[in-house]
Amino acid sequence: MPTLEGHVILVTGAAKRIGRGIALRLAREGARVAVHYQESEAEAKATAAECGGAPLFRANLENVGEIESLFNAVTAHFGRIDGLVNNAARFTRINPLEVTEADWDFIHNVNLKATFFCCQQAAKHMLAGAGGSIVNISSLGGLHPWAHHAHYCASKAGVIMLTKALAKAFAPTVTVNSVAPGVIPFGPYDDRVTRLVAATPACRAGTADEIADAVVYFLTATKFTTGQILAVDGGLGLR
Ligand SMILES: NC(=O)c1ccc[n+]([C@@H]2O[C@H](COP(=O)([O-])OP(=O)(O)OC[C@H]3O[C@@H](n4cnc5c(N)ncnc54)[C@H](OP(=O)(O)O)[C@@H]3O)[C@@H](O)[C@H]2O)c1
Repeated sequence: MPTLEGHVILVTGAAKRIGRGIALRLAREGARVAVHYQESEAEAKATAAECGGAPLFRANLENVGEIESLFNAVTAHFGRIDGLVNNAARFTRINPLEVTEADWDFIHNVNLKATFFCCQQAAKHMLAGAGGSIVNISSLGGLHPWAHHAHYCASKAGVIMLTKALAKAFAPTVTVNSVAPGVIPFGPYDDRVTRLVAATPACRAGTADEIADAVVYFLTATKFTTGQILAVDGGLGLR
């Protein structure tokens, strides 16, 4: 069974919530984790400490120049990069009739544009080295339409198609796969989460560690697994 022992893996948005869960799990699997954050410095420091003193990298992923600097800094620190988990994202609920250009750009600049350019940067470094694996965190919302999240759903559907197209582009050296989480709440449930959890065949919400299970699968799979989308949603997508 392949392991992640010694693999250098960058997790974006790793300070809190799902990203933190993925980073901690990868560290437990023996990976050398690069912890990326933007605003949540205190939480990122806590995640990095729990990852065994992992290095921290700050970048606003809306800016392609900062993405390039991020990958240069990670590869300068570790000498290489073997894995990338594109986890950072934004989420808003807005009636499509009221979505402004700014609302659209707010979501797409991070969820889709940054994911693309992080994949591009990772692949450039991986293709110049020993290859690697990319996992994009998409969403059940990229597979199923949610009326008041049309802009978000479109961004995550874009991530799913990017995953497939880039898997072809970077094969056979770099794999690109995606985990599509269902409902993974943190803190008290609002009405929307309560409704979605009630509709989930598994009869509960998911956890960050369950998303991390799927990430570890893709990062340890052979190069024969690429361009795949794995929904981790308790069966919610079967409705
Ligand atoms: N939670 C769910 O139920 C759920 C469901 C489906 C899909 N997902 C997906 O799973 C992933 C993680 O979800 P989550 O709920 O844990 O995410 P989240 O808390 O909403 O966001 C994760 C991190 O993204 C970072 N980020 C946002 N904008 C950024 C920017 N411009 N530059 C750099 N970093 C930026 C933030 O880092 P800082 O805090 O450091 O600024 C934030 O902590 C996301 O891709 C999300 O779409 C989540």
